[in-house]
Amino acid sequence: MTDRYAVIGNPIGHSKSPLIHAAFALATGQDIEYTAIEGPLDGFKATVEAFIAAGGRGMNVTIPFKLQAFEIATDPMESARLAGAVNALKFEGGRIFAQNFDGLGLVNDIQRNLGVSLAGKRVLICGAGGATRGAILPIAAQKPALIAIANRSADKAHGLKRDFAAHATLQTGGYEELAGERFDVVLNATSTGLTQADLPLAASAFAPGALAYELVYGKGLTPFLKQAQAAGVQHIADGVGMLVEQAAEAFEWWRGVRPDTQPVIARFTVPLV
Ligand code: ATR
Repeated sequence: MTDRYAVIGNPIGHSKSPLIHAAFALATGQDIEYTAIEGPLDGFKATVEAFIAAGGRGMNVTIPFKLQAFEIATDPMESARLAGAVNALKFEGGRIFAQNFDGLGLVNDIQRNLGVSLAGKRVLICGAGGATRGAILPIAAQKPALIAIANRSADKAHGLKRDFAAHATLQTGGYEELAGERFDVVLNATSTGLTQADLPLAASAFAPGALAYELVYGKGLTPFLKQAQAAGVQHIADGVGMLVEQAAEAFEWWRGVRPDTQPVIARFTVPLV
């Protein structure tokens, strides 16, 4: 029987996950079905339970259910525990295993696909929400010289410093506190890629040769990427590679086979113009 998987979110119509997993399944010869489910806002748990009862083996979870997915997990893995959020579930023997592969997908994209090693680098993450939470540990594991987190409300950034104190040393504060500091890798993990708002980030934050990375995908030149270009940054990227890499981690976790991400990234890349 074909094993069933799905991505659940609300809205879900925009999700590329069914196409990405179909491409992985074809390339690796795995017999799976992967669909998109629009979960009712007040019925996440019931929808997941119905999917399990119908033989579902695993799910990806996207906005707005990443925190609820953490709550229903019987076995949250470390990546999910530390992020406090979940983007992949595996159903096995009545248990719900949970992972958060977003941060690992981001790091794999930066290092393997974009060719930028994080070791010894000065890394700035803009934003202190869920996307940042997921990114901190995978980045810290690469031993950068510094991880700085800037947020509009500095208190939220300081909260992350406290939450992660046992696992990573973070420099946190507001954007104005970055005056005079330069970073080799600047990540936009705020929602401004979606809302098209400007970030209060100084041009001087980008070191010569810096990588500017927008975590959202398919939005073209976002205000953050335009700011980076205006500051002279040549190396810019959006989150298409992160999206495909996190999918590859989930696929391997579920199926035990590692798909090749390059052709899938190429297929979904939208030019940054
Ligand atoms: P996600 O889970 O996608 O990270 P979130 O938890 O809602 O989303 O976090 C959104 C992030 O974008 C926050 O860091 C937010 O900053 P505040 O905590 O100060 O609100 C940031 N953000 C949203 N709009 C912004 C803007 N116009 N300028 C700067 N930061 C912004």
